[in-house]
Amino acid sequence: MCGIVGYVGERRAAPVVLDGLRRLEYRGYDSAGVAVIAEGELRSVRRVGFVAALEAAVPANLPGHTGIGHTRWATHGGVTEANAHPHLDSTNRIAVCHNGIIENHSVLRARLEEEGVVFRSETDTEVLAHLISKFYTGDPEAAVRQTLGHLQGTWGIAVIFADHPGLIVAARNGSPLVVGKGEGETFIASDPHALAAYTRQVVYLEDRDIVTIRATGWTVSRLDGAGVSRGVELLGEEWTSEGRGDFSHHMLKEIHEQPESLARCLLGRVVPDEGGARLGGLDLSPRDIAAIRHVRVLGCGTSFHAGLVGAAAMEGLARIPATAEIASEFRYRNPVVAPDDIFFAISQSGETADTLGAVREVQIKGGSVLGVVNVVGSSIARSCGRGVYVHSGPEIAVASTKAFTSQVAAMLVASLSFARTRVLGPHEGKAFGEELLSVPSRVAEWIGSEAPGLMDAVELCTQGKFVFFLGRGVSHAVALEGALKLKEVAYIPCMAYPAAEMKHGPIALLDKRTPVVVVVPDDVMRDKILSSVQEVRARGARVIVVHTEGDEAAKRLADVSIAVPRSSTLISPLFTVLPLQLLAFRAGLALGRDIDRPRNLAKSVTVE
Ligand code: G6P
Repeated sequence: MCGIVGYVGERRAAPVVLDGLRRLEYRGYDSAGVAVIAEGELRSVRRVGFVAALEAAVPANLPGHTGIGHTRWATHGGVTEANAHPHLDSTNRIAVCHNGIIENHSVLRARLEEEGVVFRSETDTEVLAHLISKFYTGDPEAAVRQTLGHLQGTWGIAVIFADHPGLIVAARNGSPLVVGKGEGETFIASDPHALAAYTRQVVYLEDRDIVTIRATGWTVSRLDGAGVSRGVELLGEEWTSEGRGDFSHHMLKEIHEQPESLARCLLGRVVPDEGGARLGGLDLSPRDIAAIRHVRVLGCGTSFHAGLVGAAAMEGLARIPATAEIASEFRYRNPVVAPDDIFFAISQSGETADTLGAVREVQIKGGSVLGVVNVVGSSIARSCGRGVYVHSGPEIAVASTKAFTSQVAAMLVASLSFARTRVLGPHEGKAFGEELLSVPSRVAEWIGSEAPGLMDAVELCTQGKFVFFLGRGVSHAVALEGALKLKEVAYIPCMAYPAAEMKHGPIALLDKRTPVVVVVPDDVMRDKILSSVQEVRARGARVIVVHTEGDEAAKRLADVSIAVPRSSTLISPLFTVLPLQLLAFRAGLALGRDIDRPRNLAKSVTVE
């Protein structure tokens, strides 16, 4: 969703800010803007649409070495240029970019209007510009601090003052902000990805921090005025990887990156010699693990699907009762949280508002929650305080692919670790660990030989009325993920069902024009799923079967058959999801969709 970038230093600010905004495009937005301090004045340009439109509108050689920029995903007020950020005060001397929601903005707006302020937008953010202006008597930080004292809600803000070239004041409360330290230049951004091309040295701000940034450094204080120091951290090298390389789309690149992202996730964590796994970040002793009564996994979208696999592994391998739940539902149902439950919150971005809300609910109720997160230093990672980083590296395409497989892998490693403590002997643990470690190279081999059958499957799916996805157990989670991908990327209506449940209703929808994708690895449920395939075929539907290589019976039942490497059941999602990711990608391509930036979606959903 919304993104912020700010720069102060030797370079011209506008190109740096625009470049940062381009790097944030993946988050999803509908308008963008930039403001710089040039020759003692604020120069601001805003446009509806993509950053490219903004770039075309910003004068070449716009001077000024201090600037801020924003990509907006509309919440308060329509998608118009007037509502795009930065917002200026009435004197045009102060510019503000804001992420988050000011909940008491209407009261503040009414008060300011009574005082004669004329508003130029429908946004909640504009009250910030006018309030800062009202409180400004020459000290930028003091004016921002006083303003924030009147706000209810969430904010990540960056503010510049025409009177103070060479200075940005920024503040965070519920919306992430990170300072980037360069040589004689300093950056601010809502997402470290925007900075990775310029610096790997970053400082994560905490809620209720205010930071004043200059080219030569910064000072952080708390909202109440107390001084505080925040350490510089080094961004992982994977975050500096850029662009699409030789790939036409980020989604395709990320699908192909899975061998490396999986290897990074497993590296040093699976220890076959001990038949177990080490996840230091969980900070759980064997005694703590032995005392767990129930594992509960929370997440949204793709992360929830990874959670379903994780819960199945916790129960199947570690023999701990386990469930997965959609975070947005969990947070508002006043859930019972027992002291010997352990929660995992799964999130690629670490910023999903619903997942963060669920984490807080668990914590309020005295529960322990561990993060399974990709973005280092993100809000969920910081809120949980402990957990597992999945190390997928930046995922730019809105539709999640490599983060899903790494989330699954991380949950499998955690399950192995818990299982080894509770029920598994060294030999069984070793076998599972070795199989896990073999996954990256086998995924590489499979991806390298693009699956025969895939394009036939694409043809069936793009010509069908809608598409059914069926599976059982962990393959039902894969079916859900395959259906989500096809909806997100190709806008094809789809439905995923546990295969046996289909006969209790959805079967009424089947006819010749409803392709059915069945995920059927060769495991204990195979024969039962193949019976469901027979039922589907009997209704005239065309069947695309994703099966284990060498499974001739499954192949014979299929109109289109796609084989994946053999694996044990709990590991199978790391293979069976691959053709479904490619199916969505190829179907989106065939239908001319904007694959990396599907309509209406945001990569990181920071509002409820
Ligand atoms: C958005 C994205 C999905 C993603 C979900 C959860 O809806 O479009 O692709 O799965 O958020 O995101 P998270 O960052 O928490 O994994």
